[in-house]
Amino acid sequence: MIVDMQFPPEIIVADDSAKLAETAARAIIDAALEAVKARGRFTISLAGGSTPRATYERLAQSPLREQMPWAHTWIFFGDERGVGPEHPESNFRMANAALISKVPVPATQVFRIRGEEGDPEAAATNYARTLSEVFGGRRGELPRFDLILLGLGVDGHTASLFPGSPALKEVFRPVAAVHASAAAVPQRFTLTFPVINAAAIVMFLAAGAEKAKVVKAVLGEPTSALPAAMARPREGRLVWLLDRDAASLLNVAKSR
Ligand code: 6PG
Repeated sequence: MIVDMQFPPEIIVADDSAKLAETAARAIIDAALEAVKARGRFTISLAGGSTPRATYERLAQSPLREQMPWAHTWIFFGDERGVGPEHPESNFRMANAALISKVPVPATQVFRIRGEEGDPEAAATNYARTLSEVFGGRRGELPRFDLILLGLGVDGHTASLFPGSPALKEVFRPVAAVHASAAAVPQRFTLTFPVINAAAIVMFLAAGAEKAKVVKAVLGEPTSALPAAMARPREGRLVWLLDRDAASLLNVAKSR
């Protein structure tokens, strides 16, 4: 179902992956400062995989490190694998090593998905409860993240929302436990599109020539049914941050 968006997608092309990381880090700071000024805090959902690592590392380095309002930043995860926080496949582990352990964000403001818990449905429900407790809002009201970072798989998945997954049809629950049979760790947990599309900003990070075809399939085809194309924030901004290789099949001017 194509959801109408208030704003057209913004496509920003960086020269290379290093400039992409710099641009993304600065965009996160801009979003954070605006959110703290407007609402007193900044709520961000981090993406997993490998692409965002350079952005997280950049954000943990001076001078950008000092520009972030860490005391007012609340960190969540867009998805997680069914492993513990020390496991090499853990998205939390990657973000913690690249960013969280290196910046003064209060530990009480970092919320990982406890993927190692025995009962996946309970783990998903527990995370949804955490979102509800932290975001407040009326019963059943979806959390509105200030910024949700997303990656893009070559099959068009994003977070752990894979093609053909029943979770793509979720219209109510904010967090789903999914089984991704083709993934290295099939047990996954993911924010669902109701939450993604309620965000103030959804920002995709994609780099590398291997993503060019899927970027074109998602951004170049208005009726694309790929999961990543379903990220269409109703009353928020949709930003695609690409490096030149990932954008090579799009007809867009390089802009960074
Ligand atoms: C995950 C991510 C996933 C990732 C894409 C792209 O848990 O793996 O959430 O959606 O963003 O698979 O991964 P790369 O950045 O490694 O290409």
